[in-house]
Amino acid sequence: MSANDQTYHAAQLERAQLANNALAETRKSRWYPHFHIAAAAGWINDPNGLSFFNGRYQTYFQHHPYSSQWGPMHWGHVSSQDLVHWQRHPIALAPDREEDRDGVFSGSAVEGPDGLLYAFYTGHRWRNGYNEDDGNLQVQCLAVSQDGCTFEKRGTVIECPEGVQHFRDPKVWYQDERWWMVVGISSLEQRGEVWLYVSSNLTEWQFDRVLFQAPEPGVFMLECPDMFPLGDKWVLLCCPMGLPKEGFTGRNGHNAGYVVGDWAPGQGFTPLTAFQPLDWGHQFYAPQTFEAPDGRRILFGWMGAFDMVLPTQTEDGWCGQLTVPRELRLDDDLHLYNAPIDEFTQLRTDTVEAGAITLDANQGRVIVQECQPCEIELSINLAESSAERIGLWIGQAEGGDGVLVAYDDQMQRVVVDRGNALNGDRGYRAAPCSAEGRLELRVLIDKGSVEVFLNNGQASVTSFVFPVEGARSVILRAESGAATVDAVTVHQLGSIWNS
Ligand code: FRU
Repeated sequence: MSANDQTYHAAQLERAQLANNALAETRKSRWYPHFHIAAAAGWINDPNGLSFFNGRYQTYFQHHPYSSQWGPMHWGHVSSQDLVHWQRHPIALAPDREEDRDGVFSGSAVEGPDGLLYAFYTGHRWRNGYNEDDGNLQVQCLAVSQDGCTFEKRGTVIECPEGVQHFRDPKVWYQDERWWMVVGISSLEQRGEVWLYVSSNLTEWQFDRVLFQAPEPGVFMLECPDMFPLGDKWVLLCCPMGLPKEGFTGRNGHNAGYVVGDWAPGQGFTPLTAFQPLDWGHQFYAPQTFEAPDGRRILFGWMGAFDMVLPTQTEDGWCGQLTVPRELRLDDDLHLYNAPIDEFTQLRTDTVEAGAITLDANQGRVIVQECQPCEIELSINLAESSAERIGLWIGQAEGGDGVLVAYDDQMQRVVVDRGNALNGDRGYRAAPCSAEGRLELRVLIDKGSVEVFLNNGQASVTSFVFPVEGARSVILRAESGAATVDAVTVHQLGSIWNS
């Protein structure tokens, strides 16, 4: 970058930061997350550049600092020493060069052999300069940093294949003395594919092969691919655009999932499973992972939506949050588990063991009078229960509202039902539950969301819930049959922000 470019770059970042600071002054907090990462104000989407660098966990995210709508993308930035408490940093990347004129799109980051952080992102341009009508021009770009905060852009490292409209979201990893990059693409035949590139020095990249093609002909693009080993298998995460609705799957405007297979450098990817949802909720998209120094595979997803207006967008000056960090594990059946990382329990400030609770048919018990951001654990003894539904009715008030998080015995699924919601979208989602006699439920309740984990991460349901004003109670209830819950525990949760 020339001195002139560097000055211009710094000015764009400062302008964006000042605008965001001003927006933050009027940002409303009624649904603003207490223990999820979000921008101080403005819009966010995908997690980007997840890494452990310079002694800290670095998390970047797609960010429009000027308003609560999606717009020309920047990379927002937070970091943490413990993956639990976070510190905000100034905006890390802004669109300020010809190749990223209309947005610094999603990407990833790795530490190079020279000790610098290498951030790969998609430089986005609209061919007509203002919208997608005449197509996109998307290239893969590199920016490097000594401290994780200030970046020097190095320009395009992979050009867009001729005639292609969607080519984005580079994810890089190191394997067998080479660097590998997956990129999502819509092929000339409009098929969603993941392409693999290889490099020996992080700056010169060669096309290796088409790694994966979505089997459904309607899937025209695979966004945000990620590829990593778990045990002796490889997991490919991707976000198909155009996935058909089928039963309980494909219900969202945007859906994320995974395929497990075999891969080795120099070879193709052999899928061993079908594409599976990674989470069953309304709001879970664009997940990205990284390997922690202790070898754990940790994931953040994005909670938000491109296809509907969310209540925080219209009045509150912010939109979108990341999920809590989750650890991934693969079981012997090649099923991917995702559960909050162990450190998450450090946020617990106060714990109340409500003990065992048995309920007669249609009976309820208030377990929390005034619900603040908290985590509720239930050990439901299904073998000794006959209820049709057993679970938590959170924040039900006169006139409706509230959300239901319950095991539904007819469906044999765990349901998050927002059918009574007075703010935001309604509807329900349901995760499969292979509970043999017992179901362990872990429910994270933030000011504007719920995240539900079944049986230590066998499945999860992640949804926004925007409660009406006033105190929310939580009632444990059994419907049409009795319930035995062997343990009920409520943990209050502290804030993730250091300052
Ligand atoms: C996924 C996505 C990515 C893109 C980014 C733009 O949510 O569409 O494919 O890089 O968001 O903000």
